[in-house]
Amino acid sequence: MGFVKWLNLLTIFHLFAVTPIFSYSSSFTSKFLDLAKEPEVFDWMVDIRRKIHENPELGYEEFETSKLIRSELTKLGIPYKHPVAVTGVIGFIGTGSSPFVALRADMDALAMQELVEWEHKSKVPGKMHACGHDAHVSMLLGAAKILKAHEKEIPGTIILVFQPGEEGHGGAKKILASGALENVSAIFGLHVHPNEPVGEVTSKSGSLAAGSGFFEAIISGKGGHAAIPHHAIDPIVATSNVIISLQHILSREVNPLDPQVLTVGKFQGGDAYNVIPDSVTIGGTFRAFSRESVMYLKKRIEQVIIGQAAVHRCNATVSFLDEEKPYFPPTVNNEELHEYFNSVVGNLLGVDKVKRAKLLTASEDFAFYQEAMPGYIFFLGMENKSVEQLPSAHSPYYKVNEDALPYGAAIHASLASNYLLKLHQDLPLVQEKYNDEL
Ligand SMILES: *[C@@H]1O[C@H](CO)[C@@H](O)[C@H](O)[C@H]1NC(C)=O
Ligand SMILES: *[C@@H]1O[C@H](CO)[C@@H](O)[C@H](O)[C@H]1NC(C)=O
Ligand SMILES: *[C@@H]1O[C@H](CO)[C@@H](O)[C@H](O)[C@H]1NC(C)=O
Ligand SMILES: [Zn+2]
Ligand SMILES: [Zn+2]
Repeated sequence: MGFVKWLNLLTIFHLFAVTPIFSYSSSFTSKFLDLAKEPEVFDWMVDIRRKIHENPELGYEEFETSKLIRSELTKLGIPYKHPVAVTGVIGFIGTGSSPFVALRADMDALAMQELVEWEHKSKVPGKMHACGHDAHVSMLLGAAKILKAHEKEIPGTIILVFQPGEEGHGGAKKILASGALENVSAIFGLHVHPNEPVGEVTSKSGSLAAGSGFFEAIISGKGGHAAIPHHAIDPIVATSNVIISLQHILSREVNPLDPQVLTVGKFQGGDAYNVIPDSVTIGGTFRAFSRESVMYLKKRIEQVIIGQAAVHRCNATVSFLDEEKPYFPPTVNNEELHEYFNSVVGNLLGVDKVKRAKLLTASEDFAFYQEAMPGYIFFLGMENKSVEQLPSAHSPYYKVNEDALPYGAAIHASLASNYLLKLHQDLPLVQEKYNDEL
């Protein structure tokens, strides 16, 4: 078996090399980027991305996208599991046994109208791939194609995760609940970034994106005539104070060095100028970069709403919308994987192309995986200033620079294959070496 030969080679390498650290610029992964730029891979990825772009599907409705992925995997000879989490697809490359490493791509689009006029504009009114998930799918397929061609050299199994419903649906949670990622040693993901240069990546160790939750509250008083407020219990004034008090949680209770957000975006109550309504409904979102901070906010939001309503003789009920808008944990990158990522991607693109990312108050459901296993997500640059400036994610003018696709595919492939090589180098190789010495 090729792998045994490879192990022997590595053992020899291990015995005679000055440095015991395996070089990530090993001959086969250094070719990944060139391979991904070949028309056979590049044009194919572009074609897949455009097909998905033309037919955007919302969370858990990615039926055609899922079908397209399965048909491409079949053509590549890659076995898969389906359905997982409704429309999800899980592919397998390698030995079929442990160790396992996973790569994730999200598949869903957004409920918005595309305003970019081009040949491959969304054909579905009111739906658009405005977050680049079409590109994510095509890059993971690109990685699959490259890895499949090197399957015999992979000492373990690479799990391809095509995940539904990232945009607020918590598809990652459903994938985990299916058990498909049991025994996975690490998971990697990426997100395209419109304002970072193509050929560059950004990320960081530790917190990267915020955890977020939503709340809705009904503050009830007693309606009445606006001219005789003493016969009513006014929920509008009560709610006004509730909102002010909520802001004081951030300004007076939490550590100013631990960034947090609490926004009330919904305030509904009353229809007439001269009527005090019975009740007011408010709703909002809260965000923070650690689980403890998110949980603290959640607890205090409920206490402050109920307490401040009571000050004004009103009753309040608070809901955290666990079904409709589930809580997303903070995205926290594993420290060891960060070192590993810098080393692998530094070798692939050049160390000057790997930069530090800023904290984001947006959320990413990749965080669910990171709660279950070591996980790492990074941003893949797409900007080419000599061509155009790209609008931000979720804009109706959103565009993907397809020149970024080979970088994403090659990085995915390198991260997964080198990870398995490294596991084998770290674990059985030591025994192998001792065996040789005995
Ligand atoms: C994970 O490993 C356990 C123990 O070896 C095994 O019973 C289980 O089937 C594995 N799960 C998957 C999804 O491979
Ligand atoms: C608040 O709830 C209590 C207990 O159910 C009830 O007696 C009271 O009338 C309520 N007040 C308002 C303003 O709804
Ligand atoms: C940026 O765009 C120009 C013009 O199309 C192209 O020649 C160049 O290769 C692009 N740069 C990268 C890094 O893709
Ligand atoms: Zn998005
Ligand atoms: Zn996204």
